[in-house]
Amino acid sequence: MNAFRLLNIRAASSALRTSRQCKVIPVRAFHQSVPSLAAKVVSTRKLLPESQARLEAQDLDLVQWPEERSMPRDLLLKEIKGAEALICMLSDKIDKEILEAAGPQLKLVTTMSVGFDHIDLETARKNDITIGYTPGVLTDATADLTVLLTLAAARHMKQGIRAAETGEWTEFRPDWLCGYQFTNKTLGVVGMGRIGEAVARRLKAFGINRVLYWGRKEKPALKESLNAEFSTFDNLLAESDYVVTCCSLTPDTKDLFDYNAFSKMKKNAIFVNISRGAVVQQDDLIRALEDNLIAGAGLDVMTPEPLPLDNKLFKLKNCVILPHIGSATIETRETMGQMCVDNVLAALNNKPVPYALK
Ligand code: NDP
Ligand code: DGY
Repeated sequence: MNAFRLLNIRAASSALRTSRQCKVIPVRAFHQSVPSLAAKVVSTRKLLPESQARLEAQDLDLVQWPEERSMPRDLLLKEIKGAEALICMLSDKIDKEILEAAGPQLKLVTTMSVGFDHIDLETARKNDITIGYTPGVLTDATADLTVLLTLAAARHMKQGIRAAETGEWTEFRPDWLCGYQFTNKTLGVVGMGRIGEAVARRLKAFGINRVLYWGRKEKPALKESLNAEFSTFDNLLAESDYVVTCCSLTPDTKDLFDYNAFSKMKKNAIFVNISRGAVVQQDDLIRALEDNLIAGAGLDVMTPEPLPLDNKLFKLKNCVILPHIGSATIETRETMGQMCVDNVLAALNNKPVPYALK
């Protein structure tokens, strides 16, 4: 257990919370307790350098997990006690047990993600805990990666790279690794939110000529700006050459894509998921790919994460898998970190939290 250490940064005084004049005690063993008058903030991971430096410069009793993996749950349960704010990641399950272990002083849980399906919103509401998140700033990075995945799945990128690297590429063959292009094709966006719209705009530039979308409600402005048509789910499945899933994970969207849904899609269709793994019945996706119900898939999210190495999805030639890196650009991740810090400082100073769920 001694290998588990927490980064503990404590201020010398409890003067102004925004003060940058603080004493930093870099690392302590997790079981030691250092009394402090400053507000306790727990962060389940370190942020990127600039946002991390800004966080450390505050007058806080900061307890942070410095390792390259999530803070173990038992440690989070222990350390959250007495915290006024928590910075968490999408991989941390922030449920009733964690929220209640914190105590009544917990004001804010701010996640370094736009998705908040890992947080128990009802318990947070009941306990008057504000939920902070990072909407908007990751839209471009994630939409770029979605285009990459869509192209990769449509153009046999996985097999192509493997063939080039293993010597399987022996000569130019006119019929080898032929995929599909975007020109004059139909794109179906499941969840036309910020990311869905940014994906549609990008793919239109690649030649997509018809955009269908499905969600909770029609968005008339998209008719004018993108010529996008609101569709039923089944119609979108039947008519799209590319089905890209960008919706939030909710009880309504969980398991949305099952074998029945895949069987309604075109045989040449490419399925892409960047939302959350649980939107897909993963065993049904595997069967759909094995049975050639669809031509290929590109996944940035799956269940569980990380996907065990013996999972069948890795063995399928027509499935491209990325390790949940949609928002992973330095610029975006720095900004996400800064938003978490902004949220923490606002909450501790009893100001409106700037990036909060309504
Ligand atoms: P938005 O809130 O802008 O969009 C969410 C979309 O989900 C909306 O179109 C909404 O539909 C739809 N939706 C929500 N609830 C339902 C429901 N019950 N039934 C049908 N559709 C629903 O969020 P973003 O575009 O910023 O992000 C979307 C998701 O992408 C995140 O929640 C996250 O899970 C995922 N994500 C993944 C990343 C990655 O690294 N792979 C990076 C960033 C985000 P409507 O428009 O009708 O309200
Ligand atoms: C999110 O923000 O929800 C992504 O999954 C990671 O950035």
